[in-house]
Amino acid sequence: MIRGCLLALACAICFITATAQTRSVRERVSFNESWRFQKGDPEGAGDKLAYEKIKDWVKATGNEFVRDGVKRVKPDMPVGSDVTYTNPAFDDSSWRQLNLPHDFGIEGPFSQEYSGETGKLPWFGVAWYRKHFNVAATDKSKRLYLQIDGAMAYSTVWLNGEFVGGWPYGYSSYELDLTPFIKFGSENVVAIRLDNPPDSSRWYPGGGLYRNVWLVKTAPVHVGHWGTVVTTPVVSDAVATVDMRVTVNNDTASNVNATVRTSVFALGQRGVSRGNAETNIFVPANSLQTAALNLKVPKPKLWTLESPNRYVAVTQVEQQGRIVDEYETVFGIRTIKFDAQVGFYLNGKHVYLKGVCDHHDLGPLGSAINTRALERQIEILKEMGVNAIRTSHNPPAPELLELCDRMGIVVMDEAFDAWRRSKKKNDYSRIFDDWHEKDMRALIRRDRNHPSVILWSIGNEIGEQGSAEGHALAAALTKIVHEEDPTRPSTAAANNRNSGYNGFQKSVDVFGYNYQFADYGKFREANPTMPLFGNETASTVSSRGEYFFPVEADKSKGRVDFQVSSYDLYAPRWATSPDTEFEAQDKYPYVGGEFVWTGFDYLGEPTPYGGDSTTQLDFTDPAERTRTANELKEHGRIRVPSRSSYFGIVDLCGFKKDRFYIYQARWRPELPMAHILPHWNWPERVGQVTPVHVYTSGDEAELFLNGRSLGRKKKEQYQYRLRWDEVKYEPGELRVVAYKGGKRWAEDVMKTTAMVSQITMSADRARINADGSDLSFVTVRLADAAGLLVPRSRNRLKFSLTGPGEIVAVDNGDATSHESFQSPERNAYNGMALVVLRTKKGQPGQIRLRAESPGLRSAGLAVTSVR
Ligand code: GAL
Repeated sequence: MIRGCLLALACAICFITATAQTRSVRERVSFNESWRFQKGDPEGAGDKLAYEKIKDWVKATGNEFVRDGVKRVKPDMPVGSDVTYTNPAFDDSSWRQLNLPHDFGIEGPFSQEYSGETGKLPWFGVAWYRKHFNVAATDKSKRLYLQIDGAMAYSTVWLNGEFVGGWPYGYSSYELDLTPFIKFGSENVVAIRLDNPPDSSRWYPGGGLYRNVWLVKTAPVHVGHWGTVVTTPVVSDAVATVDMRVTVNNDTASNVNATVRTSVFALGQRGVSRGNAETNIFVPANSLQTAALNLKVPKPKLWTLESPNRYVAVTQVEQQGRIVDEYETVFGIRTIKFDAQVGFYLNGKHVYLKGVCDHHDLGPLGSAINTRALERQIEILKEMGVNAIRTSHNPPAPELLELCDRMGIVVMDEAFDAWRRSKKKNDYSRIFDDWHEKDMRALIRRDRNHPSVILWSIGNEIGEQGSAEGHALAAALTKIVHEEDPTRPSTAAANNRNSGYNGFQKSVDVFGYNYQFADYGKFREANPTMPLFGNETASTVSSRGEYFFPVEADKSKGRVDFQVSSYDLYAPRWATSPDTEFEAQDKYPYVGGEFVWTGFDYLGEPTPYGGDSTTQLDFTDPAERTRTANELKEHGRIRVPSRSSYFGIVDLCGFKKDRFYIYQARWRPELPMAHILPHWNWPERVGQVTPVHVYTSGDEAELFLNGRSLGRKKKEQYQYRLRWDEVKYEPGELRVVAYKGGKRWAEDVMKTTAMVSQITMSADRARINADGSDLSFVTVRLADAAGLLVPRSRNRLKFSLTGPGEIVAVDNGDATSHESFQSPERNAYNGMALVVLRTKKGQPGQIRLRAESPGLRSAGLAVTSVR
């Protein structure tokens, strides 16, 4: 027994020693710094480089993702080499210098003329990025790859004037082999052209090289692109079986015998390995082979939502006694199962999916990926009780999955918003036939080792749901899912209620309805063995801190001043309040959970103000009412300013709307909480009915106004909020005391405030890294002398900063504002504003922010940037 242990230990040590010797074999370095940027094509380029013209060259990229179809060969003539911007000698010194990730759309300016659906921002059109870089002569034997996590969109790449490849779908990650075009021992110039077509998206897509870009160097014999697959087919307390497939590329002209070995470690603990395996493979010249390894990890620490334990498989490739590659694959050990009666199981335990859908933008930061901004979003969602995210409606940034792995969130990883039938003239339908196989396989190969991913969604509200053609396409995409990943099911987000009965449902493994809660029962009768979820639910709309009276039950009401009342009763035609979906989920408990539309407000899609209005809207300001009445008379329409959504449970700044608390009450029943709405500053409503709603994880509550009880109410079956609808406003204090099982459980207080007199600021983190990308999110509040938030205040704020940092964005969550996100001035919106600070790379020190507003006590705040 003891001997066995010693042997295992000795073996582990020999693996580790080998690891230590070979650190420098593969390099993957950030390629984000020092790019030159310019919008538009050079004069005379005409439409030479339009996708339609050069698609035969582009289509060859991604041959590795075509299984049985035709592999493309690039036409044997240069393309684009005569366009000056691709020429390495072109002088780009007058172009703007910047670092990636970069979204040029968010820089604005907003324009009333642009569509609100995509944020009224200029994210479309041609843009070029160029970068000069040197490659050492000593790298001559190496392979060099460019990895682009996402380029929006129709990206095409030239190196030293020669066309390398490209990828049209802006959300896909891809890799290009630069080796044939590199000049070793001298300067190289990479030029990337993007051409994001207008009328191509139903939300704000952003524009530019908006995700990370990497340069990878390997030996000629190396692990391939996304070349490892880890699965854990058998998991018990005693041991987990880890199956690993490793694809080895041999980019040499001779056959190679190689040894492939893997050691598994607990992530972040490269001490003693937890399992090892080794095998030999033969890889013919200029081809690739896949090695299969089988390991056992004793007493595995499972990946759970509470303890998202992870492992890293360190794979080495040895050729003629030399280690030529080392490749790390982070993974988790866990089991998943979907069941028609119960829903989802993680490690044999039922997990009800408390999910949100989110788009990819980061509010005022636009679509440029920033890990901290995304992490903050997930922290806020977790506080609400979220355990699942749907990446609506496209492949996410790789960082999202890394964060979900680390933070214990499960993910529905979605591929497309359209197939052959378009939703927008220039959307994915334009390239579906040529690219869907590549995009679908690329998504799965990139993401399949993430323990957080539990479902592959092949599409959202696809136009083909009702046709035989659509069922065949769905079946073909599901077949790809099964080929690439036999461990996870496919799903789709179906808004057509017939797709639950017309055969479409049979082309996916797990069914998901969007907004068809009234059909949950009927679906189950027709499909007794099929797991069912609410893949997209609610779509309630609201503006943070706005309340309009009377509070009407009609869901189409609640609109004033291009805002939506925050009583959480209002929704577009197809949508509902949160409560309605909760009721359906509770009545049909085999529905395994929901993904609410949406967690965060996003840029674009400002339903119900998605287009100019042809009816007179409500306005509180009489002058505004007169102005819009005239506009309507003169032009037949009212120009709507809205540029971001009202669907978010959390606003564009990351500030919680009231809705946050109705979800928290349901999703975190063990957390004592109560939340009162509306605010209690209504000087013009004294004596008028001003309903009070309370969200609580308790089951009963008593409301007091200035110490007088307004009655104790109990939640009836299928009731998710407590309502005191007849309260007559008087200034003072509202207090609610919630009870659970008859015992005092939680309290909330809402007070009438005095006049605004001061600014207060608080940072989400007071110490951040001097790495040039870390952020501190500063919440700015307008308060009265007692420090209470003054809910309707909109005072003008001016921000200034000293020290090694910069203000990268300012916002207030008002969906109608056309003020630049980069401006250091802004009105507060309902008492609040946000300032996002960023560090400067390599410059530690104190960053000091000041906020001023005429007549108010100003505020200062310090954030420390540390190396
Ligand atoms: C759904 C759609 C989403 C969003 C939502 C708004 O039908 O899938 O992308 O548009 O409606 O309610």
